[in-house]
Amino acid sequence: MTDCQGDGEGTMSPMELFEKLNAQGEKVRSLKSAKAEKAEIDAAVQLLLKLKVDYKQMTGQDYKAGCPPSENLIVSNNGPAADDCDGEDLVDPWNVSASSTKGVDYDKLIVRFGSSKIDKELLERIEKVSGQRAHHFLRRGIFFSHRDMHQILDAYEKHKSFYLYTGRGPSSEAMHVGHLIPFIFTKWLQDVFDIPLVIQMTDDEKYLWKDLTLEECHRFTVENAKDIIACGFDVNKTFIFSDLDYMGASPQFYRNVVKVQKHVTFNQVKGIFGFTDSDCIGKISFPAIQAAPSFSSSFPQIFGGKKDVPCLIPCAIDQDPYFRMTRDVAPRIGLLKPALLHSTFFPALQGAQTKMSASDPNSSIFLTDTPKQIKNKINKHAFSGGKDTVEEHRKYGGNTEVDVSFLYLTFFLEDDEKLEKIKEDYTSGALLTGELKKILIETLQPMIAQHQERRKQVTDEMVQQFMTPRPLNFKF
Ligand code: TRP
Repeated sequence: MTDCQGDGEGTMSPMELFEKLNAQGEKVRSLKSAKAEKAEIDAAVQLLLKLKVDYKQMTGQDYKAGCPPSENLIVSNNGPAADDCDGEDLVDPWNVSASSTKGVDYDKLIVRFGSSKIDKELLERIEKVSGQRAHHFLRRGIFFSHRDMHQILDAYEKHKSFYLYTGRGPSSEAMHVGHLIPFIFTKWLQDVFDIPLVIQMTDDEKYLWKDLTLEECHRFTVENAKDIIACGFDVNKTFIFSDLDYMGASPQFYRNVVKVQKHVTFNQVKGIFGFTDSDCIGKISFPAIQAAPSFSSSFPQIFGGKKDVPCLIPCAIDQDPYFRMTRDVAPRIGLLKPALLHSTFFPALQGAQTKMSASDPNSSIFLTDTPKQIKNKINKHAFSGGKDTVEEHRKYGGNTEVDVSFLYLTFFLEDDEKLEKIKEDYTSGALLTGELKKILIETLQPMIAQHQERRKQVTDEMVQQFMTPRPLNFKF
């Protein structure tokens, strides 16, 4: 597959090849409709056929427009792709659903998306370069995949700093514990590397996708920003911005948006996100807005106009399509590709087949829940991997792979030894489901109460400070 090379990243992933096929198909159609020279059309058709053969070889499937490779994931709630293809797992920026109770097959996802696994070697390097023990999200494979993390560490070792970019789509006032995962992790990264952080609040995105007014979306930005600030970010190192405000306030940001818009075709975003002809044009051009914060020149007040400060994006894997697109255009507009760290999803109480949803109160533990609500929800709704009767459970033991209470503890119980002991006891049957749930309840109740306490301390003035474009405490 010699000509299946990506942009200097080695062999293409099935998804990249699929996207290339989409683009080539489009090219053939446009040459034909423009009545181009026969030789030119023939050459384009030849390449198309060659790509189809490569695709079949790589995936074992015939290329079909609108049906991304293999049995699971990507694309989309918009198009027919989701049910036309023999789908099992579905993962895109708007949906997550898996066919197995164990949840999404993340190893397959790495192959599909063409990213790299966070392996032992990378973990050790992160520890060496940062001088800190790896965060338990890294040790436990919650952050499991990356792009170009080695390059970020290489540069950092040579005293070339980088910055962090993450974000949140403010779709309601209520955030749940799952929403905190990227922010808890980002805070750790900021602390150990001592670097600037920008946080994009995509109120524009939520306006375009949901039945909400602009005012509501902007208000959710401010409310959600309070929860984010309550995670402990340092105002001297962190810039939080609303797209609705910052797009109009920053000429450099808008210029990067326009550059991206010029270099991505409708056909490409159709392939990546599954947009269709009846999607509003706001959606179609939105990915350029999520791409722009990946470039340091979008924040001249922080980076003094420097174009080449590398960017690292911690995010859940469902955001990867945006950044595949970003990495694809970056070299074509003379900018650096962002690096990424991907996390798994935070499962719904009902089981790992789906992620928590802010719109279903029983699927999530909210940051506003009282101790009593937390207790009731876990006891009533947390999917159990235990056996039906105490006798059976004692005899056969429980299954930690599907047990939601255990899964939650892997996120929030930091003590490795305690967690290991719980796993052993649950698997052997010594620990019952009710007892496991009790441990989770007693872990979450104080954690959420402390969050609520910290959030109360966040004033409107503090939010205003975080959201004002200004230099941060770094020299570039
Ligand atoms: N689209 C994301 C959401 O709906 C928000 C977002 C914007 C984001 N930029 C990001 C998430 C960068 C992670 C990293 O939640």
